[in-house]
Amino acid sequence: MVRDAHVPGGHVPSRHTLENLHTETRTFAPLVGMAAHANATGYEYKKAKADSLEYWREAALRLSWKQPFTEILDWSDAPVARWFHDGTLNACDNAVDRHVREGRGDRVAFHFVGEPGDTQTLTYADMLDRVQRAANGLLSLGVGKGDRVAIYLPQIPEAVVAMLACARIGAIHSVIFGGFSAESLRQRIDDAEAKLVITADGGNRRGAHLALKPLVDEALAPTAEHPTACESVKHVLTVKRTGQETAWQDGRDLWWHDVVDPQLPEHEPEWVEAEHPLFILYTSGTTGTPKGLYHTTGGYLTGVAHTHRIVFDIKPETDVYWCTADVGWVTGHSYIVYGPMINGATQVLYEGTPNTPHEGRWWEIIQEYKVTILYTAPTAIRTFMKWGHAIPDQYDLTSLRLLGSVGEPINPEAWMWYRNVIGGDRCPIVDTWWQTETGSILISPLPGVTATKPGSAMTAIPGIAVEVVDDSGAPVRNGEGGYLVITEPWPSMLRGIWGDRHRYQSTYWNHFDGMYFAGDGAKKDVDGDLWLMGRVDDVMNVSGHRLTTTEIEHALVSHPWVAEAAVVGANDEITGQAVVAFVIVRSDVEGIPTDGEAVATALRNHVRKQIGPLAKPRDILVVAEVPKTRSGKIMRRLLRDVAENRPVGDVTTLADSSVMDAIREGLAAGK
Ligand code: WTA
Repeated sequence: MVRDAHVPGGHVPSRHTLENLHTETRTFAPLVGMAAHANATGYEYKKAKADSLEYWREAALRLSWKQPFTEILDWSDAPVARWFHDGTLNACDNAVDRHVREGRGDRVAFHFVGEPGDTQTLTYADMLDRVQRAANGLLSLGVGKGDRVAIYLPQIPEAVVAMLACARIGAIHSVIFGGFSAESLRQRIDDAEAKLVITADGGNRRGAHLALKPLVDEALAPTAEHPTACESVKHVLTVKRTGQETAWQDGRDLWWHDVVDPQLPEHEPEWVEAEHPLFILYTSGTTGTPKGLYHTTGGYLTGVAHTHRIVFDIKPETDVYWCTADVGWVTGHSYIVYGPMINGATQVLYEGTPNTPHEGRWWEIIQEYKVTILYTAPTAIRTFMKWGHAIPDQYDLTSLRLLGSVGEPINPEAWMWYRNVIGGDRCPIVDTWWQTETGSILISPLPGVTATKPGSAMTAIPGIAVEVVDDSGAPVRNGEGGYLVITEPWPSMLRGIWGDRHRYQSTYWNHFDGMYFAGDGAKKDVDGDLWLMGRVDDVMNVSGHRLTTTEIEHALVSHPWVAEAAVVGANDEITGQAVVAFVIVRSDVEGIPTDGEAVATALRNHVRKQIGPLAKPRDILVVAEVPKTRSGKIMRRLLRDVAENRPVGDVTTLADSSVMDAIREGLAAGK
């Protein structure tokens, strides 16, 4: 039954797109050799189906617990779950100490590759040394259990160490991706009331030094608008990475090497309850302000370690695993830091971009470290397709045995290219669907079990109950599309939005009674396999990064030239979606350039400053009007038609139907 059938901007995937997918007939059965030795067999599904709680109990028992749990799930305060709640454990102990304790200290945890070519090899024993010193360093700054720590670092080993050191002392980390602006940083630090910020002087990006510390300084500086900005922050701990000049505030600012390096490499982990928060991660919400999603310890670690083991079929003694995500996103949290490290994997950690200093950099790294498992995003694959197969063809990629995809729907052409050119037609592809909210992978093939179809994420993993429902919340039949929901609680589910229980309930649980609403459209094909169709709300997916139309609209109207702004996500061959903004400039402000391009450039820079480079619109079009319904709601669907160069759809609900003609004419005249 539907309590609130209105899905913002919702659209069930059209019959047209569904029929296109029906024509996909290629399937790829698991390799016999892989199936014979896979970590998961078909029995896994049977076991989970018979008793999913027992299935998750067994998965949780693979973790190292200080005090064993007795209760698996307490759902009495739904939709806030408590998993394994009377057990105690420590995330860092599971990811690091345990391996050393059990004789795996000499195994390489990370082959770190800096963008300029510097490298470090860090074993699990090295990591233990580092996390213990860092934990003692944090304690010396007065940070303790339950305190929040903001981390704004490049993709360097200290980022992993900082996260694990927080977990070790029971502090809650909030990692903020390096592509966010000072303004976004301020918002997130304030919302979490962080006591400490860990940053670096800068990072290496496309051969240049990208400054980070100055953005932290700017975020922490009180302004007229925010006179009490970030008052919670007592210290800024700065890693020296690039060596660039950095302003310094005595008393507040400290160097990582001064605080951490002299500490003793001995520290007893803080044993926390399973439901102790592990981290907060901000993600775009449908309203303007980002949501601080938070995850707790026992259930989250169970979910990430288990899925990493069965989906990537990890064999820690022999595999070299490389997840190309940034630790600033959930993929980095779950599939660089927690999942793989709990499983004792050997990983590659790369600081830079795929085309620095040349377009073969990734393939060179795979050849050099004999990477066996690669986990990346469709936007990267499409970029490599554009650069051409001649580049990867120059490298020996025969070490690869399994490929993963995440972040957005992967189109069948990109899937086939990934399989043929990168995987040598030999490696299975796991297309993994999940979200920051879900904590770990929920829909994916299992490499030793599932026969895959290019472009389909296939089925829920064992122990997970998903459904595709129509507007009324009823399951759709095979061959039909609808909204993706999760019908049973799962261990790594988010526990809430930091400081806002109501928003947690209303965002995810009010659309369909008792079911988690993911915000994605999906279809079941004739076999009942799942095809993800993208977001049905105002969330855009640009290169796998989540952005909302409203947050960019807010940024645009905060510029003095802009009277009104409407933003849409338009299809883009490389980035999946791209930000396209329609703006109306003010008539009562003098000095606004008449040249649309000049306005666009200024506004693009403004968005960059307000949110960060990742949110910069691809196109900004100056228009006289935007289409609205009679009740004043912007009709983004029509703007999307314009942005994607399609004939404009049904305009009968427009308050003024001539608006679309005016936009078209204005754009044609401007070109
Ligand atoms: C999208 C990233 C199709 C989806 C892990 C989801 C996908 C959003 C896939 C979450 C996939 C992620 N196929 N779509 N394999 N993986 N998505 O929170 O729209 O950054 O809701 O988590 O990405 O993005 P988030």
